[in-house]
Amino acid sequence: MGKGFGYAKTILLGEHFVVYGLPAIGAALSKKIEIEVTKAPHMKIEAAHADGKLLLGLEAAKKSMKITENFNVKIKSEIPIGSGLGSSAALSVAFVRAVADESKMFITDHEISKHAYESERVFHGVPSGIDNTLATQGGAILFQKTQTGAEITPLKIGRPLNLVIGNTGKKRGSTEDIISAVKARRDKNPEIYNDLFNAEKKMIDSAVTAISSGKIEDLGEFMNINHGLLCSMGVSSRENEMIIYAARDLGALGAKITGAGCGGSCTILAKNEKNAEEIANEIRKLGFIAITSLVQ
Ligand code: PMV
Repeated sequence: MGKGFGYAKTILLGEHFVVYGLPAIGAALSKKIEIEVTKAPHMKIEAAHADGKLLLGLEAAKKSMKITENFNVKIKSEIPIGSGLGSSAALSVAFVRAVADESKMFITDHEISKHAYESERVFHGVPSGIDNTLATQGGAILFQKTQTGAEITPLKIGRPLNLVIGNTGKKRGSTEDIISAVKARRDKNPEIYNDLFNAEKKMIDSAVTAISSGKIEDLGEFMNINHGLLCSMGVSSRENEMIIYAARDLGALGAKITGAGCGGSCTILAKNEKNAEEIANEIRKLGFIAITSLVQ
């Protein structure tokens, strides 16, 4: 039997903008997806959410790895699927690691991420690559797409980040569909979108400094501005706002959607561990799912 894992992620700043080549800041969560594979006559996935697309995605990773055997795939997930936490990338990375383990194949993190990206392309069209990078290597990164791939800079975290992930549980469109809807809005108002993009660009360097020097209040402020820009792009929802305002009422330093939005999840930067617990409980009282995660 081969085993593998992939981390869930949150984007602290820059989802959607990253698709257009702007830098984004992401962090891996302590929550994971784990996969066990055993050789089998046909590919079979043991999971409630298994569908034809999932199978096609895993086949793409296998093809990229030049693996022709089939596997029985068992999935164990600590995160909600399809909710802006990079579950598909965590799953793809876990699968690549498990197949490499079962096939006694030596594989580097760079290769794992590259093969997992082929699955991601099946799931999301043209993903930025930030999800498979974080799912593979963990930590926090500054990420920017380039013409040949991506520039990835690991970030120093000056003070641990007490995060709360609030999941709306709202069934949203696919990441691919949400990206297409944003593109259509941008095509309609390119000049206004340029201004939104410039605002995002101006924040990134200061946000990196805030993270590395432990100025978490400043980071929270940038997360709030980022959420405002994302709202302008039409990717928030009533449920996202309920979570965000519940967190802000309890003194959260920053609160925003994370991932593609339109439901899915929100990321909240709490003042400290106690504040994170209070916020998580309040989100649960509203009927949503909440998990806390320390990024350090
Ligand atoms: O919702 P998720 O976990 O699929 O994240 C999507 C993040 C986007 O920036 C919208 C797309 C991408 O590929 O980076």
